[in-house]
Amino acid sequence: MYQQLSLFESLNIKDNEKHFQRNIRESGFDYREVDLGDITFKAGLAESIHRWYRLTPSYAPGLVRFFIKEFQISPKHFVIDPFSGRGTTSIECQKQGIQALGIEINPLLQQVGNKSLIWNTSHLHLLGDYLTEVSSLSEKYKNFSLEDVTEAFDTNIPIIHNVFRWWQQSVLKELIIHRQLMLKESYSSVKDYIWIALNKACLDCANIHRNHPTITFDDNHKREINVAHEVSKNLKIIREDLISLDSKQLSFSGLTSVNLGNSTNNLTQQINCPVDFVITSPPYPNRYSYVHQTRPQLHFMELLDNIGQATEIDLQAVGGTWGRATSVLQRELLVVPTEIKPYLTYYEELENKSILMCNYATKYFIDMWKHIKLIKEVKANQFRGAYVVGNSRLSEVDIFTESILATLFKHEGFDVEKIVAFRKRGGKKRLYETAICIKNY
Ligand SMILES: C[S@@+](CC[C@H](N)C(=O)[O-])C[C@H]1O[C@@H](n2cnc3c(N)ncnc32)[C@H](O)[C@@H]1O
Repeated sequence: MYQQLSLFESLNIKDNEKHFQRNIRESGFDYREVDLGDITFKAGLAESIHRWYRLTPSYAPGLVRFFIKEFQISPKHFVIDPFSGRGTTSIECQKQGIQALGIEINPLLQQVGNKSLIWNTSHLHLLGDYLTEVSSLSEKYKNFSLEDVTEAFDTNIPIIHNVFRWWQQSVLKELIIHRQLMLKESYSSVKDYIWIALNKACLDCANIHRNHPTITFDDNHKREINVAHEVSKNLKIIREDLISLDSKQLSFSGLTSVNLGNSTNNLTQQINCPVDFVITSPPYPNRYSYVHQTRPQLHFMELLDNIGQATEIDLQAVGGTWGRATSVLQRELLVVPTEIKPYLTYYEELENKSILMCNYATKYFIDMWKHIKLIKEVKANQFRGAYVVGNSRLSEVDIFTESILATLFKHEGFDVEKIVAFRKRGGKKRLYETAICIKNY
């Protein structure tokens, strides 16, 4: 199944990039290569349940299936995904009747993951009733202003900065009518599905580009936005997917869940039985902030009490930050624990180039080190794990994420079985994706 690493060739590394090859060779880890086809979020968009939400940094369901097979995971095992994202690991485990737990720090993604695990076909007819009622409500409020509608429903517009740059007033009015009707008691048994459909629609109906990994404003577009159409289309997909599950899979509904939590803090309080396997993908050491990228939905779905809460989550999360959280990071160089300093191979070069970038990378590895130490406390005897990560370049300095993390695992007493390289990413930038495969000594 595996090939000895030909990554050097497939990465098309030139002579002047020898330090890059050297890092792979001198790391001492056993690099292997495997071709699983498309392992990006795109593969999930073609699969039932996974397609209910599009998270561009998510991995393919096929990658989870690969490790379920590789590790010979069966329904008697317990799997965790401490960086759950949209919940790919949990969904795939639940489809196979394997008990899993996702932990996710971002309230939007935690809700998406958890709601994607509720599989109940009993009340689906109510989705049609909801669409009919929303259509008559829209007609009723046709000539009302957004303000009149928020007053009539005793609700507020999202507290996001520049709200009308995100949504046209007429679009926001429709979205709010949909959201408030979702709360009606008679729809409580299908509320989670309406929530998923509306959550996707509120982003698809925003004035943004959707062809980027990150969201950017699209101020002058001439697209016609039809909220009712988007919600109805999403509900149709949800209905189809639920009906496509077989009766055995439906019986697994709720076997797995995604909890709101922080995987760099107090894992023993969040997990109450020994963990047999981890299949996960933590953030990468780059500038991508999950909070920033999900802020329109975090606000529209009313998951934050105030704007400051977004910064707090951003600072606690592993990986990229934005806004005030970034200002906090650029003040002065972070103090690196001497125990791990020798492993941070980028440090000297990067500290001279940019304090912010050096802090970015260093905060990342300190947070991941905290996580690795916590995993030691919850692992079962036969524990094995796969951590999917990508390398990065910050201020032109290579960050060899997988070899640094593998070294930290080793430092904490784990056996690093191998590092599996999947693919090159991002054109000329020498970026690739790997899974660090670890086990209990
Ligand atoms: C690469 S994504 C995971 C994608 C996931 N594999 C999927 O397929 O959807 C990393 C996730 O880790 C979450 N995260 C970051 N820091 C965290 C922490 N300290 N505890 C729990 N989750 C965290 C982010 O919010 C993000 O959703």
